[in-house]
Amino acid sequence: MNIHNNSLSHDESEPTGLSFFIDREPPQDDFLNDVIEGISQPEKSLSPKYFYDQRGSALFDQICALEEYYPTRTELALLNSIGPELSEYAGAESRVIEYGSGSSVKIKILLDALTRPAEYIAIDISRDHLLRAATFIARQYPHIQVGAICADFTDAALLSSRPVPSQEDESAPERLLGFFPGSTIGNFDPEAAQVFLRNTRRQLGPNGQLLIGVDMKKDTATLTRAYNDAQGITAAFNKNILTRMKKELGADIDSDAFEHYAFYNETLGRIEMHLKSIRDQSIFVGENEFVFAEGETLHTENSYKYSIAEFTGMTASMGWRRKAVWTDTQDLFSIYLLETIS
Ligand SMILES: C[S@@+](CC[C@H](N)C(=O)[O-])C[C@H]1O[C@@H](n2cnc3c(N)ncnc32)[C@H](O)[C@@H]1O
Repeated sequence: MNIHNNSLSHDESEPTGLSFFIDREPPQDDFLNDVIEGISQPEKSLSPKYFYDQRGSALFDQICALEEYYPTRTELALLNSIGPELSEYAGAESRVIEYGSGSSVKIKILLDALTRPAEYIAIDISRDHLLRAATFIARQYPHIQVGAICADFTDAALLSSRPVPSQEDESAPERLLGFFPGSTIGNFDPEAAQVFLRNTRRQLGPNGQLLIGVDMKKDTATLTRAYNDAQGITAAFNKNILTRMKKELGADIDSDAFEHYAFYNETLGRIEMHLKSIRDQSIFVGENEFVFAEGETLHTENSYKYSIAEFTGMTASMGWRRKAVWTDTQDLFSIYLLETIS
């Protein structure tokens, strides 16, 4: 692990203004091993975390602006509307840790709503994008300590301790607020979501709170449309996993021989995203050949949708009490404020 204090520069000539940067970017070997393991399964699959390099993060930002993609604008509007309540619930001088911070857009609403927030720590796997976004926040909020950690947020070791030494008075009680917007929790299967909730409860400590955005169950047409936009941005995002395999692992793949395939699996309550082979073909990763039959898919993402009762039940089983929940008038999206059950 590399820790840089106040010294890390994005282009060497310009200081980032970050109070720290911790680089735990997973090694390239992990990508190779996960690809080989995932594509060797009878049902070929890869983790959605591999969508996100600089290009994948930029494509995700474009998805967020799409007319079809209701979650982002709905969550932003909800956050804007609950600001005063959030500041009351969260109290003053919180240290905020965001998991999967992306472009750090939503955090601005939260930082503006909170009373004298002390610190913002952004965690994301997409290193360059994280640095750019966190640097921007540091410049916009010079009175707040801003740090960044490039890491896999499912790494239990990362979540098993406080991420950084506190800048606060040692005798003051620690007040950590986790922030996990974007319904990124929906990308975990329910068991992995529970593990994440248990680990964050440990990391955020006895006074910890977690503000979390969760996409809700709704009609299939609205859900399907959100993941099949007319401009093909979601398709390009999905295929970025192939682009990364070619660029970073030297894989031999004809990306045009795969098509974006996304549908709502009602039984499991999740959108599934796949790359479907349009013909019989082989792809090559190093020495390894992987055969795809026509119509066979590489499963790249799930996005689970939760009713209020389902999500509240899941969080309670992992030691979180629901302090508040907000939804929009159409019940498209929900935001929960959770506190630890002591
Ligand atoms: C669905 S996007 C949400 C981005 C942002 N929080 C928002 O609400 O718009 C998921 C974000 O989490 C990051 N991410 C995905 N998997 C990750 C992992 N395993 N560890 C750390 N970051 C991850 C991605 O790089 C991306 O920025």
